[in-house]
Amino acid sequence: MKVLANDGISQSGINALNDAGIEVITTTVAQEQLSNYINAHHIDVLLVRSATKVRKDLIDSCPGLKVIGRGGVGMDNIDVEYAQSKGLKVINTPAASSQSVAELVFAHLFGGVRFLHDANRNMPLDGDSKFNALKKNYANGNELRGKTLGIVGFGRIGREVAKIALGVGMKVIASDMFIDKATIKVDFFDGQSVDFEINTIPMDELLNQSDFITLHVPAQEDYVIGEKQFGQMKDGVGIVNAARGGVISEVALIHALESGKVAFAGLDTFESEPTPSVHVLMNGRISLTPHIGAATNEAQDRIGTELASQIVSILKN
Ligand SMILES: NC(=O)c1ccc[n+]([C@@H]2O[C@H](COP(=O)([O-])OP(=O)(O)OC[C@H]3O[C@@H](n4cnc5c(N)ncnc54)[C@H](O)[C@@H]3O)[C@@H](O)[C@H]2O)c1
Repeated sequence: MKVLANDGISQSGINALNDAGIEVITTTVAQEQLSNYINAHHIDVLLVRSATKVRKDLIDSCPGLKVIGRGGVGMDNIDVEYAQSKGLKVINTPAASSQSVAELVFAHLFGGVRFLHDANRNMPLDGDSKFNALKKNYANGNELRGKTLGIVGFGRIGREVAKIALGVGMKVIASDMFIDKATIKVDFFDGQSVDFEINTIPMDELLNQSDFITLHVPAQEDYVIGEKQFGQMKDGVGIVNAARGGVISEVALIHALESGKVAFAGLDTFESEPTPSVHVLMNGRISLTPHIGAATNEAQDRIGTELASQIVSILKN
């Protein structure tokens, strides 16, 4: 049995597969050579992240392939239904990176309320000559404790965000098209835990009650946050999008930042990845990360071992 992990896999995943007698190849094969490689090396399982595309033509030209695995959540790069119609199993690891994304959201929020994104741009330039002016510029910070966090999309990541927010002492409100309520279990280091029941509320209410808003919905056809929704928010709100580019209108966001409606934004995902708009990149009120929500060593370990255990159970049964 052979696995080609074309976009890489953690060592823990390789070990788990090797222990089950499955060979793992971690060569990155160019997209146009992939079908030849898979057929020539008798690959049973193709593992990808977001870089490698697994479209109909590849599926058709690799009849020996049994499993397609995506390390992570989104399957936009795989023709899932077509693969399944051809008898292939398609697997992913939806929960493995939720906590990592949630922590990144808080990196943006904690950074945003103390202007770290802007201070990190200006300190290297003016920190030695205009220290006191910069100190004054960044003097009006805010605390998160006691503020209201609005979570749009109360699925896996939204709930992990809620756990951190509750730990920080924030009021948590949430809105979800399909979920009415959820019990959030906040675990502490010593084994204690506290359960919070949170009922979701309509989006309009969330928009006008939140001091900070974070989005955790899947990609969809229309913007979830556009001009109209920005208009419904409190003045000086902070907003984070670590979901998908296109969930927030970037044009409407820039307007809202310029008018002062939005105090700061944290973006991990962009409408035009991998070439985000220069208006977004150059805006000093936006805290920027290049789609690294899931990119922690812990998440990569969980992704690897979760994929390995699914592959072992499919191939060995
Ligand atoms: N930044 C990153 O690196 C990164 C990593 C992993 C996942 N993600 C993204 O995070 C998002 C959430 O992932 P998840 O695992 O929590 O998904 P999930 O399916 O567990 O949760 C999504 C929730 O959004 C709700 N929803 C859908 N449309 C909605 C709408 N218009 N308004 C309100 N609620 C709506 C759904 O009912 C669901 O409960 C996805 O877009 C995923 O692609 C980003």
